Amino acid sequence: MCGIVGYVGPNSTSEVLIAGLARLEYRGYDSAGIAILDSEHEIDVRKRSGKLKELRELLKDSPIKQGNTGIGHTRWATHGGPTDENAHPHLSEDGSVALIHNGIIENFAELREELAGAEFKSDTDTEVVAVLLGRELAQTGDLETAFRNIVKRLHGTFTLLAFATAEPGKIVAARHHSPLVIGLGEGENFLGSDVAAFVEYTRRAIAVEEDSIAVITPDSVQVTDFDGNTVATEEFAVAWDPAAADKGGWPSFMAKEISEQPEAVANTVRGRIKDGLVEIPELAALGDDYLQNINRIIVLACGTAAYAGQVGRYAIEKWARVPVEIELSHEFRYRDPIVDENTLVISISQSGETMDTFLAVSYAKELGLKTVSVCNTQAATIPRESDAAIYTHAGPEVAVASTKAFMAQVVALQLFALHLGRVRGVLADSDHRRAVTQLEALPDKVQQAVESQEQIQQLAHWMADTRSVLFLGRHVGFPVALEGALKLKEIAYIHAEGFAAGELKHGPIALIDHGQPVFVLVPSPRTSPTMHSKVVSNIQEIRSRGARVIAIVETGDTAVLPYADEVIRVPLADPLFEPLLHIIPMQWFALELSTAKGLDVDQPRNLAKSVTVE
Ligand code: G6P
Repeated sequence: MCGIVGYVGPNSTSEVLIAGLARLEYRGYDSAGIAILDSEHEIDVRKRSGKLKELRELLKDSPIKQGNTGIGHTRWATHGGPTDENAHPHLSEDGSVALIHNGIIENFAELREELAGAEFKSDTDTEVVAVLLGRELAQTGDLETAFRNIVKRLHGTFTLLAFATAEPGKIVAARHHSPLVIGLGEGENFLGSDVAAFVEYTRRAIAVEEDSIAVITPDSVQVTDFDGNTVATEEFAVAWDPAAADKGGWPSFMAKEISEQPEAVANTVRGRIKDGLVEIPELAALGDDYLQNINRIIVLACGTAAYAGQVGRYAIEKWARVPVEIELSHEFRYRDPIVDENTLVISISQSGETMDTFLAVSYAKELGLKTVSVCNTQAATIPRESDAAIYTHAGPEVAVASTKAFMAQVVALQLFALHLGRVRGVLADSDHRRAVTQLEALPDKVQQAVESQEQIQQLAHWMADTRSVLFLGRHVGFPVALEGALKLKEIAYIHAEGFAAGELKHGPIALIDHGQPVFVLVPSPRTSPTMHSKVVSNIQEIRSRGARVIAIVETGDTAVLPYADEVIRVPLADPLFEPLLHIIPMQWFALELSTAKGLDVDQPRNLAKSVTVE
């Protein structure tokens, strides 16, 4: 993972780098560092283990020299623990080159052996590349040539940024299975893992193609392949508002992002409804003939995105009548899936950079399958590798635990289901219009559910010592229960499990003991009376065994009142839209419990938001 930023230009380089790292910290936060080429052509480095605030403190005590060339890095450790020495940037032996890296150099041990006599200061694979580049530069005398020569020798995944004392005002960068974008300024240019790195300074960007080398100076940008052939680039306008990547007065990004869910829904729906029916222009790339003949859909995703896929499956199967399988990306690649030319692959990824999902999509392409990406990040790798992309418009999501992106992913899949149902001629117009009406009403309902925060805060307060929480859901509520449990694990470090309510009696009920908290997602008694009564029975079963029941119910449902210890009400919605309301109290619950335990809500231990290693 790791976040990288590079800057050449006349502004305060350290400020630009630190601002970029602050926006990229979601990619990893084990340690951080910056290197600047000062006016005397010497490299000054400051780096520290811990979160970015540690580096900020160090810079206060020991200010870095200024210069017009700099690189910065925020780390999620792979090779070598999160120590000051292992933090990036790394220097070549003679201090003539500074280098940062995102990814893993798989042949670093061989390269290290080859570098006879080198004294390494860290345990990282990255320092080996810095030393290699320093030696190559000493031989060739030209940074670009030296960089090109060594990049070709690296195996694994990498985005590398480097500069050299002999060539001030120039940064060379390479990408191979890790992201890299260029920000275009006036008399200054930027590099970053994604546009968040420089959105504060410029909204003009270029996505660097796979296996390319970029060279930036304050006045020029050049992109070539590894052999030096020019690669055509296309500029795009960054849609994200820089203010959207700030906390905006909220105590955490996650709190802000939960509260932004009404807009995430509205923005994802916007522009995709024509004359009361869903039409997704981006799907034109696949052609209606192809869509009509799809006989199976495989959804590939990890983490929260996979749960969004599970929720979306109910909509696709109901409205488009195509069987759907959800497969974790990292599992898909290691079996021999039975597919044919009518099997469509849909990948879901907030970042569009998750390595497991990227590799699964590449595998699907090797199998000759068409691929659609549901993604939140413009110009990310996965949508660019796909035949069509449905962008969710949730805005930048910074907190590691995904909330508004999940919401937007579910909505995007529902839109996809309605589009597909229409194109395939299997969805009655009246059902389609009813679903659209529900989608249009969602932002207001989501807002009402967001307002449950205060009630949840109190609940979390009395549950601060809880060691285990269970979540039960039925039908479309089952994946929501899984997502509710994941949120709690991620940020409150509490054992949590989600179950299909019907499965309870087949084993998990043995876990119920006196005082065991259980969240139960209760389907609507109006639209799903049978399921409702089954879930009410489940509640009675666990209550009689001592469980503390927290029921999430639709407003007006009184049937559970006698059996629940706590009732959280959400607005009325048709069954397939209930997940979008039920998930919100559980998001707040995880956040409030994490806060009550004094934990870092946005940056939980061991995790990173964008997992760019396998
Ligand atoms: C990581 C994050 C999760 C996220 C998953 C998929 O594991 O910690 O929060 O759901 O990656 O990320 P993506 O960007 O592909 O949606």
